[in-house]
Amino acid sequence: MWESLLPDEPIPFAPDFVWGVASSAFQAEGGDVPNDWVDQARRGEVPPNPGNGFFERYAEDFRLLAQLGFRHYRLSVEWSRVEPERGRFDPKALDHYRSVCDAANEAGLTPWVNLFHFTHPRWLVARGGLLAASGQGDFLRYAEHTVSALAPHATHWHSQNESMVYVLLGYLTGEFPPEIADGDAAAAMTETVARLHAGTYGIVKAADSRNTVATIEVYIDYHAEDPDDPENVEGVASLDRWYNATLLEGLGSGVLPLPGRDPVEIPGLQGALDVYGLNYYNATRVGPSGIGHWSDQPDPPIDAMGRAVHPAGLEQGLLRVADALPGVPLLVTENGCPTTDEDFRIRYIAAHLWALERARRAGAPVGGWFHWTAVDNYEWKHGYSDARFGLIGFDPTTGERTPRRAAEFLRRVISDGELRPEHLP
Ligand code: FCB
Repeated sequence: MWESLLPDEPIPFAPDFVWGVASSAFQAEGGDVPNDWVDQARRGEVPPNPGNGFFERYAEDFRLLAQLGFRHYRLSVEWSRVEPERGRFDPKALDHYRSVCDAANEAGLTPWVNLFHFTHPRWLVARGGLLAASGQGDFLRYAEHTVSALAPHATHWHSQNESMVYVLLGYLTGEFPPEIADGDAAAAMTETVARLHAGTYGIVKAADSRNTVATIEVYIDYHAEDPDDPENVEGVASLDRWYNATLLEGLGSGVLPLPGRDPVEIPGLQGALDVYGLNYYNATRVGPSGIGHWSDQPDPPIDAMGRAVHPAGLEQGLLRVADALPGVPLLVTENGCPTTDEDFRIRYIAAHLWALERARRAGAPVGGWFHWTAVDNYEWKHGYSDARFGLIGFDPTTGERTPRRAAEFLRRVISDGELRPEHLP
């Protein structure tokens, strides 16, 4: 099961290694905000989200994480709180996020502020979303307003979370809002996310050219279910080209190679990043029986969402980005697993830090790793279930926080500056 995945030698981490945790506004805050996930929950299509208490307890969470040794916290701004009606910005909401950034800084955590993590304000949905003629302008106005309100409380920014997952699930498979399943819409949205990223990069840099902007993309390690079937192999290769390579190429050249379409030049896209943030969870198999999870082992460990653990995909993803964007520093901006078993979580973390180390040894300039997530939160369609990604659990009645064994394990790794195999369960 785990033996071949775990490190058999110490993994060193320099004192400036970026140890962080990642979260998103809606997943942690929940609440009755005017966005599309709340509307979906009202219709009974997804679980409701009462939040994990972060909205009130953020300062306490930051202190707890700082005690564990973390120095970076990735958060996001809930667009529907900041701009509940089109063009009307709520100063109280902006004050709130300013206080969140201040509290992080005071606790010794650098806040990394992400402007878009899957949720859309209700008013935007009513107008046809980001693909509507006014959609890009709406987003950039919100970005401009939010960046100018929060800078200089925050100096590290993300334009959006996992743009290609957003396009894949929201516009190609239709699993996430806006629930569109249409190849043309997916192509148009691929171009749109690139334009939004380029525009937001310009906004953040105009606020202060010293600001750092990191992209965030999930690397999906795609595999053909039947490697002897040329059609399956080519299908997977073209999915991989669209999903994993389009934005990478666009960031490198400024030209997006959209599949089946003429390449599109996107003003401001070339080099629009200071850091590439790569998220990684697991590998994916695509073939005659549909889409599933993939591993090269006969008996891989399986997480609480039924996914096989395959750390080599992280190593491969990092090497691929390093190759496509030479000289760009890399971070793992999300990695973690859904489980209720702390031995599983610790091994998952160690196996992936080992994959990160192998990528570093092969030349990928990986400067840090963010654990998803701090306190258990709303895992989208899984709601609050056994899909617990937190280093810290919470009592749903009192909100009380309890760090888990994996948190203690990481505290030790960070303070030792080294992951030691003998500390693994
Ligand atoms: C990522 C999402 C994040 C969270 C984790 C488990 O793909 O960015 O919101 O759901 O998966």
